[in-house]
Amino acid sequence: MNHCDIPTHFIKKIDKKSQLLKKVDIIPIEVLVRNFFAGSLSKKFGVKEGTQLSDTLIEYCLKSDELGDPHISSEHILNLGLCDFDELELIDEYSLRINDILRSTFYSIGINLVDFKLEFGICKKTDELVLADEISPDTCRLWDLKTNKKLDKDRFRRDLGNIEEAYEEVLNRLNLTI
Ligand code: TMP
Repeated sequence: MNHCDIPTHFIKKIDKKSQLLKKVDIIPIEVLVRNFFAGSLSKKFGVKEGTQLSDTLIEYCLKSDELGDPHISSEHILNLGLCDFDELELIDEYSLRINDILRSTFYSIGINLVDFKLEFGICKKTDELVLADEISPDTCRLWDLKTNKKLDKDRFRRDLGNIEEAYEEVLNRLNLTI
């Protein structure tokens, strides 16, 4: 993402399990970016999972364990002072650009990016708004393009089994080494 002009908290990989990151104040919202109906959106509107949305949809949840991470609107975000108007505009812009990058990357390896979650923060040193999250099968819905096989955390959430194999499949297709 840094190479695609999306600023992030990532500085460098230290070893297999450690990364050096910029210190940020996390903006307490989860940004949900959706290309297809699935999960809570399908449940809310009774629309079959896998139905394409006519346009990419951005939703927000408040990060609050006590309140159960409720869905909130942009007006809620601004009224609660969770971030300001310009920051929210930048969050939306980055989220849509990240979606474009991820969608084409996954498409090129035969995977449909159904939806995903992002978090952002303000860098303590520079005051810059940065992506401050992992992007992985834990935080995305990834379906095989041909078979619609789920290659993401829904295998765990829905007790489908073979979660490790699914994650390895994504990794192998991305041709990454860890
Ligand atoms: P949802 O359908 O459960 O609202 O989730 C939408 C997407 O966001 C899905 O890819 C899972 C991801 N997500 C997280 O990674 N963490 C979360 O806390 C939530 C609510 C969603």
